[in-house]
Amino acid sequence: MIEHKRFLITGATGFLGRHLIEYLHKDYPNIQSIPLVRDNKTWDEQDWTQAVRCDEIITGSFSDISQSPDSIGQINGIFHLAALVHHSRSHCEDVYKTNIEGTLDMVRLAAAKKCRLVYVSTSGTVGVFDSRNEWADEHSPYQENQIKRWPYYDSKLKAEREARKLANKLGVELVIIRPPVLLGPGDHRFRSTGNIIRYLRGALPFLINGGMHFVDIRDASSALVSAMLHPEPKPVYHLSGVACSIDNFFKMVENSSGVKPPRFHLPHPLALLLANIFSSAAGLMNAKSPIPDPVVIEMAGKYWDIRSRYAAKDLGFFNRNGQETINDTVSWLIKNHDKLKSLKV
Ligand SMILES: NC(=O)c1ccc[n+]([C@@H]2O[C@H](COP(=O)([O-])OP(=O)(O)OC[C@H]3O[C@@H](n4cnc5c(N)ncnc54)[C@H](OP(=O)(O)O)[C@@H]3O)[C@@H](O)[C@H]2O)c1
Repeated sequence: MIEHKRFLITGATGFLGRHLIEYLHKDYPNIQSIPLVRDNKTWDEQDWTQAVRCDEIITGSFSDISQSPDSIGQINGIFHLAALVHHSRSHCEDVYKTNIEGTLDMVRLAAAKKCRLVYVSTSGTVGVFDSRNEWADEHSPYQENQIKRWPYYDSKLKAEREARKLANKLGVELVIIRPPVLLGPGDHRFRSTGNIIRYLRGALPFLINGGMHFVDIRDASSALVSAMLHPEPKPVYHLSGVACSIDNFFKMVENSSGVKPPRFHLPHPLALLLANIFSSAAGLMNAKSPIPDPVVIEMAGKYWDIRSRYAAKDLGFFNRNGQETINDTVSWLIKNHDKLKSLKV
C-alpha cells in the first residue's frame, strides 16, 4: 500500500514555495502539500495555485499555529521557506522578527508534531568572501564579520543558530538547506530576478567588479524534497550552483536576450558613494532611488561561493548548466513582465 504523507509548507505563495508545490504535485501523487498562508487572498489570487493539488490551506501566523498545534491535523514534516527578503538597513525590524521568531515557532511546531523540519536558509551565512577562490562547505564557520551590517543575512544567521539550539533542546530533527540566489522561470513576484529585470529594461546604471552565485530553483526544489524524505539526513546541506563574476553573469543574460550591458563600469567605492547619496536623497523625498540600495552594492562587491560534501550523494542534487537557467529565466520574464513584453529574443 502507498503511504500518503502530509507536509506543511510556509512561504507557499513565494517563488520557492511555488516551485516546491508544483514539483510535489507533478512527481509525488502520494504527498499532500498544506500551505500555511497569512492571508488566503494571496494564495487565491495567483493563477498557478489553481493547477496544483492543495485541498487544505491553513491561514494564520507562525505564532498562531505554533501555540495551537492541535488546530492542524497530523503532519509528516514542515518545509519552512517563509522569510522577509529585504536587504536594506532601513526598516529592518520586521526582517529580524519574521526570520528569527518565525523559524523558532516552526521548531516548536515540529516538536509538538514530532516531525522533521527542513528550513531554507541561505549560502550567505557562510559563503561570502573578499576575494575569489574562497568557498565554504557544510563545516565552514559563519561569516559573522562579513554580514553583520546586512540585516537579511544577519537575521538568517541568527535564525540558523537559535533554531539549532532550540531544536537540540526539544529533540527536533532540523535540516538546514543553504542555497545561493535562486533563479529560473516563475518568479511571479519579480523579486529574485529584480536585477535581471533592471538589466533587460536598460535600468541598471552601471556594473561593478564583484561576484555572484546562483542555483536553478527547479534543482533546489527537488533537493528540498530529498532532504525531507532521506532516512538519515545531515544537519546542513549546501546547494552549490554557478559562482561567477558579475560581468560573466550579465554576459549570460546578454547571450539569452541580446540586450547589451550598461556602458559604465564603476570602481566599487564610487558606486557605493553614489548608492549612499541617492539612497539618502530618496529617503528625504520619499521616492525610490534609481541606484540599488547601498547594502546591495556592498554585497555585489564581494565574492560568493559554497560547495557541498554531501548534497550530490544524499540528495541526488545536481545543478543544471547556468546558461540554461538564465535562458529559461529570461524567456519567462519576457512573457510575463508587463514592461518586458516588447523585447524580442
Ligand atoms: N530567492 C532567493 O534568491 C533566495 C536565495 C537563498 C535563500 N532564499 C530563501 O528561500 C526562501 C524562499 O524565498 P523566496 O524567493 O521564495 O521568497 P519570496 O518569493 O519573497 O516569498 C517569501 C514568502 O514568505 C512569506 N512571508 C514573508 N513574511 C512573512 C510573515 N511575516 N509571515 C508569514 N509568511 C511570510 C511570503 O508570504 P506572503 O505571500 O504573505 O507575502 C512568501 O510566501 C526564503 O527563506 C529565503 O530566505 C531565497
